[in-house]
Amino acid sequence: MTPEIRIFTNAALLAHAAAEEVVRIANEAVAARGKFTLALAGGSTPKALYSLLAGDSQLHAAMPWTKTHFFWGDERHVVPDHAESNFRMANETMLAHVPVPHEHIHRVRSEEPHAARAAEEYERTLRTVFGGEAMPRFDLILLGMGTDGHTASLFPNTSALLEKQHWVVANWVPKLNAWRVTFTAPLINNAANVLFLVAGGDKAEPLHAVLQGARQPEQYPSQLVQPTAGRLLWLVDVAAGQSVAPRP
Ligand code: 6PG
Repeated sequence: MTPEIRIFTNAALLAHAAAEEVVRIANEAVAARGKFTLALAGGSTPKALYSLLAGDSQLHAAMPWTKTHFFWGDERHVVPDHAESNFRMANETMLAHVPVPHEHIHRVRSEEPHAARAAEEYERTLRTVFGGEAMPRFDLILLGMGTDGHTASLFPNTSALLEKQHWVVANWVPKLNAWRVTFTAPLINNAANVLFLVAGGDKAEPLHAVLQGARQPEQYPSQLVQPTAGRLLWLVDVAAGQSVAPRP
């Protein structure tokens, strides 16, 4: 599957294009299956997207909020009201301002003292919500990319990169001296749609390496994202995409 790459002149246009994609995929999913399963990305890049979905009157009205189930592709091992929490960021920028049923917000219980238990519990949550033993096929997984080429919490040279069975694992990240809980590559690659949002000049080199460099996923884990039967779309701003050719 050759990824689509779209390059935007600024982060605001990137966020709006991303919001339009989310709304389109959401309504297709609800029309086809009665619900929309969406895994959110953490970090800072998605904030503009989340704020737009909640705050732009046309986008807000177009989103099937009451039919949407929210998940997180990764979470820091912190309490949910911690400044570093991906749940807190999404809640403050979007979820607290939209009519999503509380029971549709499936956060990682990252306050659990043992990250491995939090990961096991989250995998059980996926089994419950998706109903059954088959690997969940998310309608959409949003991802960011770090300056080291990581995505979700799949960091270079960490054990989670090698996981082939589990859908969610705890991952010790030496460079952060911290535990993370993350979707694994098999789960991400089972999605119907995967959408990367990448902005900023500091992402230009890693983005070129990920998209056009040699295949070395241990060093650039974003290269692991290759949906087996899904669509892969990169939305990047010109600063991040300065060394990348757009691809329809
Ligand atoms: C996280 C994210 C992570 C993020 C990248 C990019 O928990 O931090 O899930 O994978 O997407 O680090 O982060 P920025 O958008 O802040 O550059």
